[in-house]
Amino acid sequence: MFSFYRAVWWVAACCCLQACSSDPCTDYTADEEPKRSTQYNVTANSTLLCDLGLSTGWYRFTSAAGGEIPTTCPPQFACGTHEPMWLNGTHPVVEDGEVDRTVCVHHLDQSGSDCCGLQVNIRVRNCSGFYVYYLTSPPGCDMAYCAGTETPCPAGTTSSNSDFTPGCFTPNNPAVTTNTAAVIVPVLCIVFMLLFLGGGLILYKGKRYGHERSVHVSPSPVRRKYSVPTIDE
Ligand SMILES: *[C@@H]1O[C@H](CO)[C@@H](O)[C@H](O)[C@H]1NC(C)=O
Ligand SMILES: *[C@@H]1O[C@H](CO)[C@@H](O)[C@H](O)[C@H]1NC(C)=O
Ligand SMILES: *[C@@H]1O[C@H](CO)[C@@H](O)[C@H](O)[C@H]1NC(C)=O
Ligand SMILES: *[C@@H]1O[C@H](CO)[C@@H](O)[C@H](O)[C@H]1NC(C)=O
Repeated sequence: MFSFYRAVWWVAACCCLQACSSDPCTDYTADEEPKRSTQYNVTANSTLLCDLGLSTGWYRFTSAAGGEIPTTCPPQFACGTHEPMWLNGTHPVVEDGEVDRTVCVHHLDQSGSDCCGLQVNIRVRNCSGFYVYYLTSPPGCDMAYCAGTETPCPAGTTSSNSDFTPGCFTPNNPAVTTNTAAVIVPVLCIVFMLLFLGGGLILYKGKRYGHERSVHVSPSPVRRKYSVPTIDE
């Protein structure tokens, strides 16, 4: 009887540990690549993203571009890749748990570009505030999962969202600040040096005159003291 209950306890403990350790809402790989944004267009000479060989597992997209795989077909050369991968379906609510979904590859073949030319099966879960995706490798290069829809700030502007929209602004020209500091600090230094030197000179002169005076003053009364009585007497 005792060994039976102990066996049950061990089985329960193992199941609990298994369940706890495999919670995809806490056990996921964070992907921080902002170029996955649907608004990140590939420019000349830029390296294309390629998810070929991606290890199968739970992923969360954590870049400032946004955390959701888009549910509409992005144009080719968006998402920092040649053939963007998008979710052909809806995102689940929390109560749905894990759901099976299809990701389409915006593929280019002999007949032209096809928004769902190739397909990959994934799983999605709503973790109440963010989504996690169970992803596998696409069949080729350059294909990559899209994530997020934010636009990089225009050149010369910045934002508190890691230089992504919303809220792009032109920062205060740092050169101006540096120049102001570079002028004010030496000027203040020179002013203080002059004040210090001037004070030192005055002190020095004062001491010198004081010393000379005391030298001159002290013998004269002595001289007078001695000379006046000797002349008078
Ligand atoms: C990216 O290219 C698409 C056209 O393919 C264009 O509509 C979009 O405005 C571009 N986005 C940026 C941020 O340049
Ligand atoms: C791309 O590379 C070529 C040569 O490799 C160069 O001439 C060209 O200026 C580069 N373009 C950009 C936008 O960097
Ligand atoms: C999305 O998937 C459905 C099948 O579930 C398919 O009929 C449809 O063509 C796909 N969408 C696109 C844009 O290819
Ligand atoms: C997750 O599901 C809840 C409802 O259960 C919904 O309000 C929310 O918008 C969904 N998405 C995210 C990212 O939380």
